[in-house]
Amino acid sequence: MLSTLPRLIGHRGAKENAPENTLASLREAARQGAAWVEVDVMLTRDRVPVLIHDDTLERTTSGTGPVPDLTLAELRRLDAGSWFDPRFAGETVPTLEDALALIRDLGLGLNLEIKPYPGQDVATAEAAIATLKRLWPAGRPLLLSSFEVPCLEVARDLAPDIPRGYLLWDPPADWAAIADRIGAATLNVDQERQTAGTVAVYRATGRPVLAYTVNDPRRANELFDWGVAGVFTDAPGRLAAALGQ
Ligand code: G3P
Ligand code: MG
Repeated sequence: MLSTLPRLIGHRGAKENAPENTLASLREAARQGAAWVEVDVMLTRDRVPVLIHDDTLERTTSGTGPVPDLTLAELRRLDAGSWFDPRFAGETVPTLEDALALIRDLGLGLNLEIKPYPGQDVATAEAAIATLKRLWPAGRPLLLSSFEVPCLEVARDLAPDIPRGYLLWDPPADWAAIADRIGAATLNVDQERQTAGTVAVYRATGRPVLAYTVNDPRRANELFDWGVAGVFTDAPGRLAAALGQ
């Protein structure tokens, strides 16, 4: 069961002010007062779950090529902070294990997005769930999510008690049936595609709606007015201040 959902979730940590999906970004989200963070998890060549968004290394690290071409040892040698700002030189791509320990210590809730490299849906979900089962404290707020239905099916089967969010960008015609089949607890939708009408349709399924990614407080208020329960934001502190929260 998902008992509480936050209004604001730090997207990839606090992506506006720190390099996304790094430990520094998680610390920054906590410093800004975020109650929850969202991070993306993918596998290395040796099947270790790590935090990274893109399929390839270029944008957010000093490396090149597909993420699953590198072992964890090779990945650890890359700089994942300098591209954002020289102040963050030396940040690395964190393992999920290290990230969970920090998120736990920071007292944050977590939305873990399973972000498999193409063809690795099942393996990524299995590894992420095994790590969560080993390290995430019982009772601490947790939501698993994915755009990839096979990941959510694995989650349903291996960890039925962990709530699942169905991520939608361009929803398939049968999204509602899929949401039922995977036992989705939330619908996590692209904010740009939403109107009062679309939010009403999603809410009519009885599920809370979360919207990504919202950095404009006026847009956040509009979405909340339509009944969106919470938004993913790159700037949790700035948005909270603007919203008076
Ligand atoms: O989980 C919300 C959001 O992170 C989904 O899109 O591409 O930013 O991972 P993306
Ligand atoms: Mg994400």
